[in-house]
Amino acid sequence: MIKHEAFEKNSILLLIGTLVVVSIGGLVEIAPTFYLESTVEKVQGMRPYAPLELVGRNVYVREGCYTCHSQMIRALRDEVERYGHYSLAAESMYDHPFQWGSKRNGPDLARVGGKYSDEWHRDHLRDPRSLVPESIMPGYAFLATRAVEPKDIADHLKANKAVGVPYTDEMLKAASEDLTAQADPNADTEAFLKRYPKAVARDFDGNPAQVTEMDALIAYLQMLGTLVDFSQYDAEAFNR
Ligand code: HEC
Repeated sequence: MIKHEAFEKNSILLLIGTLVVVSIGGLVEIAPTFYLESTVEKVQGMRPYAPLELVGRNVYVREGCYTCHSQMIRALRDEVERYGHYSLAAESMYDHPFQWGSKRNGPDLARVGGKYSDEWHRDHLRDPRSLVPESIMPGYAFLATRAVEPKDIADHLKANKAVGVPYTDEMLKAASEDLTAQADPNADTEAFLKRYPKAVARDFDGNPAQVTEMDALIAYLQMLGTLVDFSQYDAEAFNR
């Protein structure tokens, strides 16, 4: 006699049985989140986005780059060999919303920072097929003509602070100067770099006279995946 015949013949019993099994699975997944202090391992180097990078991120979200690009390298050999160290939870802890994506019509961008020059990005964003003839990526030439409004940026920082990004009062106060300083090759960036270590400050779009959305987006792309120093990162401690 088959033991589960009773379940197969009685839908109420099947329903109760299903609920019991699903609750066990649920408990195993949900219960630890109540007693673990944090599910995000702290990693050296992560910092909130600099104002210009945050504007670039907003452009990235607005233009739907996430519909074709992921920002999450999985711990699989082919991905790690192609893109670099697998992504850590901490690397997207200041992302609201996260940009992991769910589709890869184009390559993963989690570690694209420093892979290409600013000129490459500029030409590629303007006309992807000028560099990659078979590319299906749309062009975004208009970004180079759209000025970034520095007076709004403090509010963007505040909104991120409200959801838990640790922007300090000093960062909020200096937000609009920091935004212009990062794209101005002649600016004094000492205080800016103290606030945002490892930020790259230079003219990104080839037009030093104006801060454009192209500057912002390239500043964001050049930062992606560069904050955590993986030569110092102890993956063994992570797996123990
Ligand atoms: C319709 C899908 C699509 C959209 C939308 C899209 N891309 Fe792409 N992207 C691609 C494809 C396909 C490639 C690979 C071919 C190439 O390099 O152009 C690519 C390549 C790239 C690369 C080079 C990556 C590498 O490692 O070689 C970058 C950087 C990039 N895209 C940024 C962006 C940004 C920023 C946006 C939004 C403004 C965007 N893409 C929107 C499809 C897309």
